Amino acid sequence: MDRLGTEGAFEVLARARSLEAEGRHIVHLEIGEPDFATPDNITEAAISALHAGYTHYTPAGGIMEAREAVARFVSRRLGVDTQPGEVVLTPGSKNVLLFVLLACVEPGDEVIYPDPGYPIYSSLVNFIGARPVPVRLREERGFRMDLDELASLVTARTRLLILNSPQNPTGGVLTEEDVAFIARLAIEHDLVVISDEIYSQIVYGHEHVSILSQPGMKERTVLMDGMSKAYAMCGWRLGYGVAPRELASRMEALMINSSSCAAAFSQMAMIEAFESPESDRAVRRMVEQFRSRRDLVVAGLNAMPGVRCQVPQGAFYVFPNVESTGLDERQLAEDLLEGAGVALLPGSAFGPAGHGFLRLSYTQSESDLRLGLERMGNYLAERPAVAR
Ligand SMILES: Cc1ncc(COP(=O)(O)O)c(C=O)c1O
Repeated sequence: MDRLGTEGAFEVLARARSLEAEGRHIVHLEIGEPDFATPDNITEAAISALHAGYTHYTPAGGIMEAREAVARFVSRRLGVDTQPGEVVLTPGSKNVLLFVLLACVEPGDEVIYPDPGYPIYSSLVNFIGARPVPVRLREERGFRMDLDELASLVTARTRLLILNSPQNPTGGVLTEEDVAFIARLAIEHDLVVISDEIYSQIVYGHEHVSILSQPGMKERTVLMDGMSKAYAMCGWRLGYGVAPRELASRMEALMINSSSCAAAFSQMAMIEAFESPESDRAVRRMVEQFRSRRDLVVAGLNAMPGVRCQVPQGAFYVFPNVESTGLDERQLAEDLLEGAGVALLPGSAFGPAGHGFLRLSYTQSESDLRLGLERMGNYLAERPAVAR
């Protein structure tokens, strides 16, 4: 258990809630959860499913109609022929990661993952006794990795590579050139790739690219995705993996041994989410709002003394560099919560390469974001340590 890590967002959220219970007002910029309600047509589909008796266990990999809906969605969006037998539904996409690591990685194997990155990657890799090998994402490259550096990290022990685009915590995205290079590397060294694309529908002004669409990659890639982010369905707990058939059947066996199945009515609601034009329109509306929130937050941060913020191309996070404030990012995050009522995360909660950065989630209303920025700006302006 000592090897298992955690997710800072849940810890800061708990601290913020306890301050609220003491009567303090907190602006929540810590947790990656849209403030929007799940689109009505999806909720209605779940209610109908409950009334129709979808209250029982389902097959471990998911109800066939729901797996077919995922297969059609992935085939359509990524242009990769996908069959329902290659789809496994899980209660949240995190399980896809855990199951693939359990199925494919031995103790002592090496797994390359992005730093800064979603903290669960290194936590689970450590937990199963493998060695996490960070590849640094570089601020000056829009938080993309240096491809030669990535290639230099591959050894005879490297088994698996974790990609995440658009990325948490930086909002960086992989380009066509990046995925083509990484695909060649994976094929050359016989690596499995987990491609975490949970933010793939939340992109601004460009098309999402997936490594799954690269020639020769379908047989070695696991697509990790889910309903939480694009459809504002975090609490429905529904994710999915798309994997080569044999690996998919191993994941089903792990489902039988852990959760049995994902919730039946969530699975039925997912069909509505994927197949109704109304859901597409709702997603587009939410993405438009995220985009204007992004622009507001980036401009606000760049106007603060000692803060430098890139414009992220996807997801709903910003990752400002706060080194020039002269303040330690952990201390700053703590002070902003306790002293200014703004909950956000230190970049180092996402790995050593996050030192000197903060992560803000712009999933709250514009008025909350403005208030958070105002409190943060005032706080920094009053600190003597700020370099001007
Ligand atoms: C990069 C990334 N992957 C996976 C997840 C897990 O999402 P869920 O388990 O809700 O599908 C998150 C949630 O924050 C995330 O940021």
